[in-house]
Amino acid sequence: MAQFHIAPSILSADFARLGEEVRNVVAAGADWIHFDVMDNHFVPNLTIGPMVLEAIRPHTDVPIDVHLMVEPVDRIVPDFAKAGANVISFHPEGSIHIDRTLSLIRDHGCKAGLVFNPATPLNYLDHVMDKLDLVLIMSVNPGFGGQSFIPEALNKVREARARINAYQERTGRKIHLEVDGGVKVENIGEIAAAGADTFVAGSAIFGHPDYKHIIDAMRTELEKSGAQS
Ligand code: DX5
Ligand code: ZN
Repeated sequence: MAQFHIAPSILSADFARLGEEVRNVVAAGADWIHFDVMDNHFVPNLTIGPMVLEAIRPHTDVPIDVHLMVEPVDRIVPDFAKAGANVISFHPEGSIHIDRTLSLIRDHGCKAGLVFNPATPLNYLDHVMDKLDLVLIMSVNPGFGGQSFIPEALNKVREARARINAYQERTGRKIHLEVDGGVKVENIGEIAAAGADTFVAGSAIFGHPDYKHIIDAMRTELEKSGAQS
């Protein structure tokens, strides 16, 4: 059976009840928790940091997927690792030494990911596949929840899938392919068919009163898509 991961973004959760929101969305079937870190510098918004991660960590055992929309990256990586991150991803534009940052994340015991904005080319992948555990394709410009999916992202997902499959055939090592921004029940099947295996969804899940209903509906669409991850 295909191994898909649904990663609700707590950016759209109720920040006054974050621990409870995390527990509820995991009980509703979330596989990962997506944790959006914005610095009002790399992106025009300000969100949450390592102290909030530390506070929610005891509320769940599922992997916490930290998406750093910050610049610079390196200073803050150890803080997120110590706070309990499992995956840490960053944007290549946020680090002068991308290879070094990927090593830094892994040296701190986390999986490492690179994130591609809509206009950022995939050639940043060319020489770092061995140091990557996850590729994250942005299907919106980062900074806010609730934006519309940019359809061109599907072509990029197909291209990233081809690169990952070629690498996997050569080495036997799996790399996750995640999509973030505007993911909903209506388009998740198409995104899976393009090659994604991990799906971030913020407003689609937290904007609905019944998280389980939405996550179940997403899984039904994933099964219908016939995609294999
Ligand atoms: C956008 C964030 C996303 C965001 C997704 O900058 O990286 O993770 O929370 O929200 P939706 O699913 O509402 O587009
Ligand atoms: Zn994100």
